[in-house]
Amino acid sequence: MDSSYAQLLEEWKKVASNILQPMKIQEPHVGKVNVVVSTPKYYFSAGEDNLIYQFNIKTDAEIHVYKKHLSPIHCLQIQDKYMISGDENGLLVCWNIQKRDCSWSQNAHTNGVTAIHIDRNFHLFTGGNDNMIYEWDIETGKQISRFEGHTAKINQLYSTFNKNPILFSCSDDNFAYCWDCKTRKKSVKFAGHKDSVLCLFYDELSRVLFTGSADKTVFSWDIRKGSTNRKYIGNENAITQIHVNQSFLFTCCKDGRLGVIKIKASKRDTFTFLEGHKEEITNLIVLPDRMITSSLDNTIRLWRHKSSSSKVIYEGHTKGITTISMNPEQILISGGKDSKVIRWPKVEIKSRSGSIIVESKEQKEAQYKDYDETILHNKISLEKVSIWVNDKQHSVPGDLNIIEACRYIGVPVHSLCYHPRLHPLSTCKCCAVEVETGLNNLRKAGACATIVKKGMKIYTDTITVKDQQRQAILELRLKQRSRALLSKGETFDDSTEFGRLLRDISDIFIDDSNKAIRVDLSKCIDCARCAQVCKSVQKMGVISFPAKSINAIETAFRTNGKYLIDTQCIACGQCSVFCPTGAISEYDNTPEVERELESGGKTLVVGIAPSVRVTLSEEFGKAPGEISAGKFASALRMLGFQYVFDVQFFADLTIMEEGSELLKRLKDPDAVLPMFTSCCPAWINMVEKLYPELIPHLSSAKSPQQMFGAIVKSYFAKKIKVKRKDIYCVSIMPCTAKKQELRREQMQTNGIRDVDVSLTVREIARMFKKKNIDWEKIVEGEFDDPLGTSSSSGSLFAATGGVMEAALRTAYEIETGEIFPKLTFQEIRGLEKFKLGEVTIKNKELQVGVLNSGAAIHDFIHKFKKGDLQTAKNEKISNLIFVEFMACPGGCIGGGGQPRSSINILPQRIEAVYNNEFSLPFRKSHDNEKIKELYSEFLKEPLSEKSEELLHTRYKPNQRHEEAEVHKSTDTLSIFQEGLIPKNSVLVLFGSQTGTAELAAIKITQNLLKAKIKARLVEMNHYKVGNLISELFVIFVTSTFWEGSFPENAIEFWNDLQKLTTRLRKLRFAIFGLGNSTYAHFNHAGQLLQSQMQKLGAIEMHDFGRGDCEAVEGYLTELKPWIETLVKVLHKNIPKDMRVN
Ligand SMILES: Cc1cc2nc3c(=O)[nH]c(=O)nc-3n(C[C@H](O)[C@H](O)[C@H](O)COP(=O)(O)O)c2cc1C
Ligand code: SF4
Ligand code: SF4
Ligand code: FES
Repeated sequence: MDSSYAQLLEEWKKVASNILQPMKIQEPHVGKVNVVVSTPKYYFSAGEDNLIYQFNIKTDAEIHVYKKHLSPIHCLQIQDKYMISGDENGLLVCWNIQKRDCSWSQNAHTNGVTAIHIDRNFHLFTGGNDNMIYEWDIETGKQISRFEGHTAKINQLYSTFNKNPILFSCSDDNFAYCWDCKTRKKSVKFAGHKDSVLCLFYDELSRVLFTGSADKTVFSWDIRKGSTNRKYIGNENAITQIHVNQSFLFTCCKDGRLGVIKIKASKRDTFTFLEGHKEEITNLIVLPDRMITSSLDNTIRLWRHKSSSSKVIYEGHTKGITTISMNPEQILISGGKDSKVIRWPKVEIKSRSGSIIVESKEQKEAQYKDYDETILHNKISLEKVSIWVNDKQHSVPGDLNIIEACRYIGVPVHSLCYHPRLHPLSTCKCCAVEVETGLNNLRKAGACATIVKKGMKIYTDTITVKDQQRQAILELRLKQRSRALLSKGETFDDSTEFGRLLRDISDIFIDDSNKAIRVDLSKCIDCARCAQVCKSVQKMGVISFPAKSINAIETAFRTNGKYLIDTQCIACGQCSVFCPTGAISEYDNTPEVERELESGGKTLVVGIAPSVRVTLSEEFGKAPGEISAGKFASALRMLGFQYVFDVQFFADLTIMEEGSELLKRLKDPDAVLPMFTSCCPAWINMVEKLYPELIPHLSSAKSPQQMFGAIVKSYFAKKIKVKRKDIYCVSIMPCTAKKQELRREQMQTNGIRDVDVSLTVREIARMFKKKNIDWEKIVEGEFDDPLGTSSSSGSLFAATGGVMEAALRTAYEIETGEIFPKLTFQEIRGLEKFKLGEVTIKNKELQVGVLNSGAAIHDFIHKFKKGDLQTAKNEKISNLIFVEFMACPGGCIGGGGQPRSSINILPQRIEAVYNNEFSLPFRKSHDNEKIKELYSEFLKEPLSEKSEELLHTRYKPNQRHEEAEVHKSTDTLSIFQEGLIPKNSVLVLFGSQTGTAELAAIKITQNLLKAKIKARLVEMNHYKVGNLISELFVIFVTSTFWEGSFPENAIEFWNDLQKLTTRLRKLRFAIFGLGNSTYAHFNHAGQLLQSQMQKLGAIEMHDFGRGDCEAVEGYLTELKPWIETLVKVLHKNIPKDMRVN
């Protein structure tokens, strides 16, 4: 029999006998798992090893490990962002699961915490082995109340969830109590059990309390009087858990039997026992259509209410199951004495037929393939709405768009221009769905630009939807084809007249002028992702996004007709990561490397950067970090490289030099501080091109790539007795800007580059694919000596904050001679764009900053230059000594040369970086024995003459782009920047997502200047709302986005404007709104501004301008006459000093 057929039969057999196999088995714990809890997004497990693990419920990736407990954790509860854990020593910890850190901890109960309860109003109660019950302020960890009365261990707590809750408790002292939370007095005592009261259940509807006891009975109580309503007898063993629904009472027994009895049982009624488990039942979950029980007999059973028999048995644990948890999506998680945490397949019961459908592994994986973890993290509101997708009802967070909502429930929707890390652009029309607008009335909607609403009925697979998607794809394909026909790269038959004409005239833009990225617009489909990322994520505005006139020749990628080398492009390559067609890609250096490997004339040396060992695996369909650095090294040897070195070693070397430079600057009263890191070449480009006045702040230390080249071609060349010209040195990098960096004149000696070529991860993956490298079979290799050993500090260079953390560990220890007090510097870890840390060196409190992404850097520098840096709590930052800058989001893990991904992969990558840290022999750069050897044999010491010559560099302004025609975006901004033109001028404030409103604002400002009216232009979020009080005239220009909201760069301004209480009676204003009349909320943001300004008492001096980008001429139809009238009105009203003489 064919083996796949046999496998299929085996599968059928399993479902027929209803035995379920685990979907995922996790084994992170050492020892028993005591508690598991789950949320829609994550599952958590706590164990005997004092640790709490967090996993992603969709991907099963390990997200975080919470470490603070010093004894086994027995209690764990989650409510919203709060996770509370209690341990055997009595330590109570409150974690913030959004920030993944500890909010507070308390030594709460002597002898251990035994019960935790948080209600929906965030009242937190704990009980302990010390017989005490406490209430805590969940925000601060302050004890609010203590409840004294029990004389033995507290077993369970429950509070009603109203403003003034009443609390129920039960204990080993045989009693249960009801407490008045206001007076902290026991209001009622429930006495009657003859042994420990192990469990309780309060029925909110009937207001009846049930208690179960080791004396084998269950009582129901009148909670006002404390008298018994009923006594339920018949169980033959201690009752460990009870549950009540509208009709039945369920009991779990130590003998493994599940008892069921009518709540309103008469004396004659007895328990029905559901047999199946062979040992104690540890947990019970009751749902409307089923019950689930776990047992020490290693199984979980699913029972149907009606048939009262166990339909499905979950087999996978090998030692008793201690805990189970089901999240709102009904995903079941279990933990056991065998240290295993298991996620089970979802079981759906079709109520009419009674049939059971078990989700297959493939189904699950396919469903969530594109699921973006940060959608939930960033966007989820507490409010859920009920929607219908393809006639099935679902509950989803109310602020998701249709794509996100469908992916959240596992329904695929096609998309192209949409990317979870960018705001929707709505340019490709591939994400069509149909939405019901009335009885049997459907309208087409773009799933990426439509937010779900309560009761919305969505169809993703109708004939109209498919036709629309095919139509959209066809249009995109036609665009590509027609552009390709006019491409420079095409060959034409020039024996014909038409062929010659084509040859002479064809000129679709191909630009590889900056040697970092290559643009071939014959592949472009006008999705505008490149413009969006360059503008919003990087705030560079090199690529503009035209509102209209995209045609076969003019694409959505525009650089004002200039080659990239003549723009302010910093070569970060972010546009190449997001381009879905490859129209923008890295400058391809593989042909020359392949030639060199083929010819073999030189000594071939290669080095791997810290982050690329984490991301290479993604190019081969694996999770970040799955292909080890050892296999990577072996594969490089298979390509023909003779020496494989680790650039992490050079990260350690960078730290030695940079850390020493920082200490030197700190001791020199004349030195420029804060010092800025210099290892990111895109950041260096930014300084040289846009902020040359900041050059003195830059550390002179070369980047690890360049230190690698310099040392290989000097120290190592000498060791192997080969001339530097005979070494071919290749670096594998996460970055496109590295390709430019190695060409800098400061990075070569006698015309020979220190590093010959830099390849991105995408390029080296292509080379491996060509050679059919089989990752399963390849053996683990090692890096070569002596430049292949690194510390974990070096590995941290892969992510934002890593350089700073590594530098601090070393600088601190060199300066103080003491061990750096913390192993990890949590404040500067994670993906936040701006992080601030504090460190005390020799009693001096110093601040350090960490920035990632172009946008965050621009904002920082803007404030830094104004002396206006503030902490998140609005405190002034005054003691900043060192700042790390990475131009890409997330640092190198988000680099422009990294694998492309249609999901937000950064959280997974950063986890993999932090996991890698522990696999290395040294934690700190200065402990690395091989670094010590390099200094003793060759460099002598950090900042020595030799080190300065080889490992340090210099920078110079690069204003080449300014010589070319000034580009409209950020360049123009700097001309009119706040402060350059006196304040007594007309203020033009703009909010713009993709540049159209910005362009309109620039036109308005230019026209005012032409009309001899002083004017200045400022981006809304860069303007302090409070200053409006001293303005006389303000012109607002804003577009509208996402169903009536403000564009990103205006949101902060708008929020502050709404809070403004000062009246603006002197201020005259005018608004020009930009929108698209096909949207329901046409020009809504402008209208919001208008009514708010009117509310504040400002006078509107000109009619509201309604720019419609759908019009034939775009918004210009409306803008031109609007400006003419504006100029006239201003001329009539402005004072003399606002006129240009
Ligand atoms: C996803 C998306 C949502 C939009 N929502 C609205 C809207 O609610 N109302 C409106 O008038 N225009 C809307 N527009 C149109 C934009 O306002 C219009 O394209 C404008 O020119 C963008 O200007 P900007 O480049 O300055 O941001 C939307 C456009 C997109 C891509
Ligand atoms: S490389 Fe960076 S700065 Fe240059 S165009 Fe692309 S995103 Fe903009
Ligand atoms: S170059 Fe790429 S990202 Fe930019 S519009 Fe064209 S296809 Fe989209
Ligand atoms: S994905 Fe919605 S229009 Fe492109």
